[in-house]
Amino acid sequence: MSTKTLAKPRGTRDMLPDEMEARREIEMRLRNCARTFGYREIATPAFEETELFTIRSGEGIIAEMYAFEDKGGRSLSLRPELTAPVLRMYVNEGKSLVKPVKWCYFGDCFRYERPQKGRYRQFWQFGAELIDADSAFADAEIIMLANELLKTAGVTFILKIGHLACMRTLLSETPATLQIAVRHALDKRESDKAALLLAENGYKHLVQPLLALTQATTLSEIFSIIGNIPQKERIEEMCQILDTAGVAYELSPAIARGLDYYTGVVFEAFAEGLGAENQIMGGGAYRLAHLFGGEDTPSVGFAIGFDRVMVALSEKQIVAPKPQVSIIYFPETRSAAVRTAATLREQGICVDLDLTGRSFSAQMKNAGKIANTAIIIGEKEYSVGTVTVKNLNTGEQVQWSLSALSEHIVEFMSA
Ligand code: HAM
Repeated sequence: MSTKTLAKPRGTRDMLPDEMEARREIEMRLRNCARTFGYREIATPAFEETELFTIRSGEGIIAEMYAFEDKGGRSLSLRPELTAPVLRMYVNEGKSLVKPVKWCYFGDCFRYERPQKGRYRQFWQFGAELIDADSAFADAEIIMLANELLKTAGVTFILKIGHLACMRTLLSETPATLQIAVRHALDKRESDKAALLLAENGYKHLVQPLLALTQATTLSEIFSIIGNIPQKERIEEMCQILDTAGVAYELSPAIARGLDYYTGVVFEAFAEGLGAENQIMGGGAYRLAHLFGGEDTPSVGFAIGFDRVMVALSEKQIVAPKPQVSIIYFPETRSAAVRTAATLREQGICVDLDLTGRSFSAQMKNAGKIANTAIIIGEKEYSVGTVTVKNLNTGEQVQWSLSALSEHIVEFMSA
């Protein structure tokens, strides 16, 4: 027999009840909020054919995924994100869907990353996709939803919005490979490196406009650098809708986004106090459906890094522990305890019963650790239809009939 203590895999976490209850609370707030915007929840498999993820990003992405061959020789991968699976599902579901499609999802993702605070190998995303609506209003609505979800979760954040056309226009004379390298540097917030790449490759004249663009914060500044691009009106209209809706945001034309399927507006949110891994949400407009056998369909969406939101909230008390009852019984009253527990549980009350034959005093001691109310079922009392109810915080004690117990216990517990 092995004496080694087995540990959880690197980059994964165990979650104790307090943490799970807090997560469920925030999860429900997010679901309810998305529902008020008309986004209905869907689910996709935890693993997909590897091709679903490589088709757009290339084989290089395999290094960042949990990719494997199953016993039937299929090449599969645990999903590193949910946008590609959701678009695959959209294509598979076919023409019967009412357009535009408004879906939200909550699921775990797997990435083979170097773990650190806020960066895990298994993590959860809450996201939304708006499929087949191509307008400034569609872009604005998805940003409004992301903003409202983060507010509902209770996190303090800064929302940044950009458009890929800004950098693309500025870099249009440079080769595609250099554009990708510059965008990757910008994605890592390394504008000096991006500038150096341009200078080294013979585009010194673009360095100053690039740096000016990374610092531009108003529409007029941005368009004075890149000129009147075709997307100008749409960007202005989107901003006007966001202003009408009272969304607080910063313009950030340097946002490049790590995933390479984006085509238009892009946006990210950053939370305070998370260190390097402070990006709690990312999204944008993209086109994927045609790669999966569907029609070329404009889509826009985002995903919130749920675990990072929970780290950002960790100082706050999210849910108060649920009050619990311990039923203290004697060997002669065990059946009465079982029946009483069933009646109280039907009322939605949390009830604990000793399962290990502890003595009366050991049961009382344990009750003090896990419950705020004890119901003591003594043989004589029970034979005349009464039980003793004790507030374990104040010591207050009452004797009730079984019908009074059902009627008043909730009030007694919360007093
Ligand atoms: P993403 O920026 O790769 O976008 O991920 C979205 C969010 O997931 C990030 O902002 C971050 O909060 C969180 N996240 C990413 N990696 C990790 C990790 N290793 N550990 C913890 N949290 C992490 C997407 O995944 C796109 N599918 C978003 C989207 C939806 N675009 C359009 N629709």
